[in-house]
Amino acid sequence: MNITEERKRDHIEVSLKEDVSSNKNYWNYIELEHNALPEINEEEIDLSTKLFNKKLGAPIIIAGITGGYSSAKYINENLAAAAEKFQIGMGVGSQRAALENPKLKETYSVINSYDIPLKIANIGASQIALWNKKKILENAKKIVEMIDADILAVCLNFLQEIVQPEGEAHAKGCLEAIKILSKEFKKPVIIKESGAGISGKVAETLLSKTNIAGIDVGGAGGTSFSAVEYYRAKMKNDKLNMRVGQTFWDWGIPTPKCIQEVRKVTKKELPIIATGGIKNGLDAAKALALGANAAGIAHSLLESATKYKQQTIFELTSLETYGS
Ligand SMILES: Cc1cc2nc3c(=O)[nH]c(=O)nc-3n(C[C@H](O)[C@H](O)[C@H](O)COP(=O)(O)O)c2cc1C
Repeated sequence: MNITEERKRDHIEVSLKEDVSSNKNYWNYIELEHNALPEINEEEIDLSTKLFNKKLGAPIIIAGITGGYSSAKYINENLAAAAEKFQIGMGVGSQRAALENPKLKETYSVINSYDIPLKIANIGASQIALWNKKKILENAKKIVEMIDADILAVCLNFLQEIVQPEGEAHAKGCLEAIKILSKEFKKPVIIKESGAGISGKVAETLLSKTNIAGIDVGGAGGTSFSAVEYYRAKMKNDKLNMRVGQTFWDWGIPTPKCIQEVRKVTKKELPIIATGGIKNGLDAAKALALGANAAGIAHSLLESATKYKQQTIFELTSLETYGS
């Protein structure tokens, strides 16, 4: 197992074993006004929506979580079964591992056996910042073909890269790489954060300099990668990195704030996915009310996805219907 595979395994194991969530649940601060006179019957409510020209059964995306080590195949398969059942979108975790070791492709491509209306490929911005134009476009083609993806997400995860000891925070050149990819690649490219959030200012820069097709704001309030790295450091008795993880545990822009800021600077039609701390259908409804087009869920589905397909489907049913 190489370093990337080990890290992928650790992220899953730590996220399952420890409480890696932010100390703050920002969704609790948002209150939707009750409508005592809805004038619509429950059975008439249609959750279906269109996102990136694909019809989804509900405005929900299973956010990119894993791939790149052996057990990830099982997790991705269970998530894919749930995505098929509800006809919702699904992302995979960073596909860098399969670029480094093609034997790991099937830990991602397992989702191709399922009928998923919107599949999202994934690569870290720190990686593409290091590649030349030819390599950016070649590798983008490889990872999109791997899962027959409809769109490609570039993950801006510099907080994560900084807090993990083996992280690679190659931030310089990132904007240019996104520009090349979004202008020259044949599939739509979106930008995603992984828990620290995208501000209105960053969205404005991306929109004025690149051709991105959407933004997953990936805000704070849910899974904290600083927390994940705190526990990874603790396993190694690495006191310095434990301190770093603790310091940045709750760092980031709250997801509800990201949605509002990003919506302000984007045109109405630019899709916004709201990932970060979504734990139930009510949180998702709040995200939509604030201006998002869909809500993304990662950690709340992880435990069930390590069990069985039926468990994952049940979890998604109860999240959508009743909340956690
Ligand atoms: C174990 C784990 C691994 C993740 N790996 C990736 C990844 O490789 N690429 C990525 O863009 N996001 C990754 N994420 C971030 C999620 O897509 C999501 O943005 C984040 O977990 C916040 O959502 P949540 O609060 O519902 O967990 C990962 C999340 C978890 C829990």
